[in-house]
Amino acid sequence: MAETVLEARELHVGYGPIRAVRGCSFVLGTGETVAIVGANGAGKTTIMRALSNLLPRQGGAVRVLGEDTAGVPAHALVRRGLLHIPEGRGIVGRLTVRDNLRIAHDSRATASGFTEALAAAYRRFPRLEARAGQRAGSMSGGEQQMLALAKAIVNPPRVLLIDEPSLGLAPMMVREAFDVLADFRRAGMAILLVEQNVRSALALADRAYVLRQGEIVFEDTGAALLASAERLRTHLVARPSSG
Ligand SMILES: Nc1ncnc2c1ncn2[C@@H]1O[C@H](COP(=O)(O)OP(=O)(O)OP(=O)(O)O)[C@@H](O)[C@H]1O
Ligand SMILES: [Mg+2]
Repeated sequence: MAETVLEARELHVGYGPIRAVRGCSFVLGTGETVAIVGANGAGKTTIMRALSNLLPRQGGAVRVLGEDTAGVPAHALVRRGLLHIPEGRGIVGRLTVRDNLRIAHDSRATASGFTEALAAAYRRFPRLEARAGQRAGSMSGGEQQMLALAKAIVNPPRVLLIDEPSLGLAPMMVREAFDVLADFRRAGMAILLVEQNVRSALALADRAYVLRQGEIVFEDTGAALLASAERLRTHLVARPSSG
């Protein structure tokens, strides 16, 4: 595999007595798209939040772009090039579309100016241009997901963590969201994707890990996992074949 941009070793994360993530180890290589799939409550969001230091870890180590992230504040990880698009989009509802994109652009020094970056985002999502001055929170779920993805266009991260991009979207918008991720992948972005929409995630991913009750039970290429529906069904109780 190519050089590693993100590595978790024996990651343990919990909420008080609840041990949500129990000794997970995984890697993401340069330019790779890796999926973590698992049922409701498997620990996917907990992993993502721990990787971007939004949650403290109780054990293990995480390295992002070669550096240990222990004690590094979440915003400093953003400056290093780690963008986390959380479950529920992570946009600022009371701000306009344009202001949300400005914050994303300014979160980290970029080669391109804001006008140029904004134009690139609007080319990909013309609908956002039409909504530029609208409060983000008043947009539809699909439009809000476009805005969340557009953050990675105005300021392309070196590593993208994206949690359930298809959540609550109509089938057409699910396809659109995965098309955009495929574009990011082709452009060489390293992507760690968490999804319950297993088929779409595995179709996109180079490799995938199957998470069950806080533990990684196996990993394989996306294609091999897609082909072994039986094996998957055992581990993915919730919505195994949606999408
Ligand atoms: N804030 C919290 N306080 C206590 N327990 C929590 C908290 N957040 C999550 N948990 C528990 O941790 C476990 C993992 O939750 P997590 O949200 O990571 O799952 P998930 O795989 O993202 O699920 P989903 O597919 O439903 O988003 C679950 O048992 C959940 O109930
Ligand atoms: Mg979740």
